Amino acid sequence: MPSLPQPSPPALEHSQAVCAAISHEIAGCGGWISFARFMEIALHAPGLGYYSSGLDKFGAGGDFVTAPEMSALFGQSIAAQAAQVLRLTGGDILEVGAGSGKLALDLMLELARRDALPPRYCILELSADLRQRQRARIGCEAPHLLPRFSWLDTLPQHFSGLVLGNEVLDAMPAHLVTWRAGRVFERGVAMQDGRFLWRERPLSGGELLRQAQALPPAGFVSGDIAYTSEINLAAQGFMRSLGRMLEQGMILMLDYGFGASEYYHPQRGAGTLMCHYRHQAHDDPFFLPGLQDLTAHVDFSAVAQAATGAGLTLSGYASQANFLINCGLTELLARTSPEDPAAYLPLVAQVQKLMSPAEMGELFKAIALSRNMQETPLGFSRGDRSHTLPLPITQI
Ligand SMILES: C[S@@+](CC[C@H](N)C(=O)[O-])C[C@H]1O[C@@H](n2cnc3c(N)ncnc32)[C@H](O)[C@@H]1O
Repeated sequence: MPSLPQPSPPALEHSQAVCAAISHEIAGCGGWISFARFMEIALHAPGLGYYSSGLDKFGAGGDFVTAPEMSALFGQSIAAQAAQVLRLTGGDILEVGAGSGKLALDLMLELARRDALPPRYCILELSADLRQRQRARIGCEAPHLLPRFSWLDTLPQHFSGLVLGNEVLDAMPAHLVTWRAGRVFERGVAMQDGRFLWRERPLSGGELLRQAQALPPAGFVSGDIAYTSEINLAAQGFMRSLGRMLEQGMILMLDYGFGASEYYHPQRGAGTLMCHYRHQAHDDPFFLPGLQDLTAHVDFSAVAQAATGAGLTLSGYASQANFLINCGLTELLARTSPEDPAAYLPLVAQVQKLMSPAEMGELFKAIALSRNMQETPLGFSRGDRSHTLPLPITQI
């Protein structure tokens, strides 16, 4: 891709090592692996994958900017929702996929300000490198809070309180499915002349086929035009595990995506798979594996269905803009005086990015799934769209 920046020689060498690991896997699997497996190695293989290696990913020097990296107001707003859950449960916070640790930091500093700190803030992070960075950052920027933090290797058996994840489900490996002429195929990855290439296989059974058959995108069931999209079994399985673990409290996930009817819309026939490299988005996952982020939008209907199947209640689904307003973003902004433009104007620009429908306000959603919670979650008090997520999947 000539238009994208060239990597440094060590980065190129790293990508070649990732390619070698994927090629080895393809050879060992008879010449084909699912795209989900390709994505899992490219993103998460220990020491090699995009998230596991020491690359800078977040912010201006990396490949993309997430909401917590953009503004401390994001974590400060979520603190209002966290405070409600902590008051009702007396529990802890468990953050999944904490990235640079910025959200954890902003959230805990705001909870301290409100005198509402949880006894423990646990982080479940797949990447050993990021775990180390999170610990170092919190130790440096809020050493007084560090004793409350712990890093987990696996989910606990039981948990009460708030489970939180921002842009985590989109980083879980998604299967690619193509519907064509009344048949369903899985898109996977093969090799030819030392290069990765797409190869389809008919789906002959299993959960992927069951879900694909329940989702025939309108107009593509019998025609010759192919319709390709993603089904994220890993994200569904993860939500089920969280659902089984949660005794009392709420799971709050924020990410970009839609409900199933919009996700599998006839006009979205090429799916939602995206790659991010140095702040440029493109659609070639075979470009420099290990050096770029791979992501698929989240199907919030499937997320809700998986969690409710594990006994949770869908207690809110809203645009990020509505969620943040309900959590008091405007009041947080008002803490800074407009008469101090050097402090105020950057915050206004951040709020615009978080809230504007043309930026993150509408594409990004917040979803809440709860157990034994007696109050309506604060973040969904207005603008709740739970009714737009059809359940169960077989009704789609
Ligand atoms: C796109 S980054 C988002 C980071 C951070 N939450 C933010 O908003 O800046 C995805 C994060 O999820 C982590 N991750 C992905 N899959 C995970 C899993 N199954 N368990 C725990 N962490 C995971 C990655 O290592 C990374 O920290």
